[in-house]
Amino acid sequence: MRMAEQASEHQVKHARYVLTPWSAQAGLRPPAIVRGQGPFIYDAEGRRYLDFSSGLISVNLGHSHPEVVRAMQSQAERLCYAAPSFFNDARAELAEILIKLAPWPEEGRAFFTTGGAEANEDAVKMARLITGRPKVLAAYRSFHGSSYGAATLTGDDRRFAAEPGIPGVVHFLTPYPYRSPFFTEEPEEETRRALEHLELILLHEDPQRIAAVILEPVVGTNGVIMYPEGYLEGVRRITERHGIILIFDEVMTGFGRTGAPFAAQRFGVTPDMIAFAKAATSAYVPLGGVLVRESLARHFDNNVLWCGHTFSGHPFVMAVALAVQQAYREDSLLTRALEIEGWLRPALEELRNRHAVVGDARGLGAFFALELVRDRESREPLVSRYGGDPAPLREFHAALRSRGVCVFGRYNILLIAPPLTIAREEVELGVGALDESLGELVRRLR
Ligand SMILES: Cc1ncc(COP(=O)(O)O)c(C=O)c1O
Repeated sequence: MRMAEQASEHQVKHARYVLTPWSAQAGLRPPAIVRGQGPFIYDAEGRRYLDFSSGLISVNLGHSHPEVVRAMQSQAERLCYAAPSFFNDARAELAEILIKLAPWPEEGRAFFTTGGAEANEDAVKMARLITGRPKVLAAYRSFHGSSYGAATLTGDDRRFAAEPGIPGVVHFLTPYPYRSPFFTEEPEEETRRALEHLELILLHEDPQRIAAVILEPVVGTNGVIMYPEGYLEGVRRITERHGIILIFDEVMTGFGRTGAPFAAQRFGVTPDMIAFAKAATSAYVPLGGVLVRESLARHFDNNVLWCGHTFSGHPFVMAVALAVQQAYREDSLLTRALEIEGWLRPALEELRNRHAVVGDARGLGAFFALELVRDRESREPLVSRYGGDPAPLREFHAALRSRGVCVFGRYNILLIAPPLTIAREEVELGVGALDESLGELVRRLR
């Protein structure tokens, strides 16, 4: 009751009328955010928070970029919508820019959706149409979206509410060096055993019946897991050998997050399709899509592309994305994460050394995770979907917010992924607040 009395008018109305995603609704009282500027967001009471996870790893440009705001105003006056069956100037421009960012010398073509889940579903649908094969392989440690098909591709517990899901999706195990499912601490061995496992799954499923393998090149909300060297290359080799389309879900890793336009380039592994969303517009407006390499896109020259949405290639959204891509280019933001990596890596490793509750600190670019554990030896997660008291983590997030910093987290994972425009002092502000809040968490757990 005390909580409700203290809550602001906006919070009370929000709790009364809005269903908030991925949550039991009772007792939710996050701040009501009303304004954003650069790496900061502000609540209705004027309190400032450093947006240390770029919203949901998506506001790569920081908030309220003036050039993008101007582009929005100008496009709003000119054209907000035309049906996707018409051609459109901004759509053509944007598609060219995105295809030139993609890793294919042969180039390719773009299909537009409204978000990441649709992008993954359309990528899979295209792969099935192109190959005529029925099945898709996806990783257990993955998230590909919430709608029915994308939730079925997802391997984590967000899949369960969609079960039994769409037919034809088979999950497999992927490397996780900190908690190896392949019983080894050796990265090389992890890669070897993981690839052997994939070959075995293919053998049992019949590779000729597999249309696509879909993977996050760096696993996102399941822990910023980087695959050990050679794994992605190995998956590429195996899929190529069997004529299987390799889809990278770059919804989180795209547009500079790892220090390259796409993670494909950071790792030097070239998929056949790239699903994107989030930072394509710096999350200012909803946009997703699929980039398809030319040799595959050509299939649809004489075969119908059985995909489409009212908002596919929405002219207003296209103009916003164009302005965002221009800002990325002008401020060299698609490689700036390499500089941010140089600040974040040592700072987060120091947090791991200082606080026993941090089991692992890992990541690359401007994309890191702290994995929290009860005990460093056993690596027992502080909270997992299999149990553990969520209260300490809830309190940790509240304590961090009281210090003016927000991070996105799931169970025992904290995602540290600031806007690519962030200054060094702002990174230090975020790390300082994490340091104090982790210290408090350790004292509470004693
Ligand atoms: C890797 C990945 N794929 C897909 C999605 C789903 O995207 P959307 O929420 O835009 O549907 C997400 C969302 O967090 C994601 O992280």
